Amino acid sequence: MKDKRELRKEALNIRKGLSEEEIIEKSKLITEKLISLDGFYNSKCVMAYMDFKNEVMTRFLIEHCLNLGKIVALPLIDCVDGVKKIFPYELTNQEGCLKPGTYGILEPVKEFSRKIDPKDIDLVVVPGVAFDVKGGRIGYGAGYYDIFLREVRKDCLKIGIAFDIQVFPSIPKEEHDILMDAVVTENEIYF
Ligand SMILES: Nc1ncnc2c1ncn2[C@@H]1O[C@H](COP(=O)(O)OP(=O)(O)OP(=O)(O)O)[C@@H](O)[C@H]1O
Ligand SMILES: [Mg+2]
Repeated sequence: MKDKRELRKEALNIRKGLSEEEIIEKSKLITEKLISLDGFYNSKCVMAYMDFKNEVMTRFLIEHCLNLGKIVALPLIDCVDGVKKIFPYELTNQEGCLKPGTYGILEPVKEFSRKIDPKDIDLVVVPGVAFDVKGGRIGYGAGYYDIFLREVRKDCLKIGIAFDIQVFPSIPKEEHDILMDAVVTENEIYF
């Protein structure tokens, strides 16, 4: 089996080949599939992410959540005791409530937001570089999500979203890797 680093590179390369139109269209389809799930319907607090580069766009999903009155949390990477970790903060609709943070990804501005207890989150929409059909996941390699996902409730749904081209039959798993409950693409929902 290819190692994680190789697969990460390969998947990022494949994803680079998508045009903006394809990304928009597929992201809309992924959103439709995701919002059709009972787990989504039943969630009051949804943690999303702000897409960057060629990740699945989350704007349609976020908009939909806000329209339904769900609480939307976004990751903010903060350094506490010398360790950088993800902290969920609420997305507010104030002007200037987001600003570029780690990797240049938009993050909530603390002054305009409130910290959300990971135990209050019902569904985490997880970005990734590659997934497999059994919920295996490869991210950018910092372990941010693997560490963060240990803090959510046992019954919190972890759903990876990705384009079909990012899903492989099987990817290597290490002990610290957290499995997704489902992976949603423009064509499939893998449980
Ligand atoms: N629970 C954990 N506790 C401490 N360190 C961890 C934990 N989980 C992961 N790590 C660290 O993170 C590193 C990167 O992990 P991995 O290769 O799985 O990243 P990834 O899943 O691609 O990244 P990310 O979660 O940021 O998207 C690991 O080598 C490990 O040192
Ligand atoms: Mg991992």
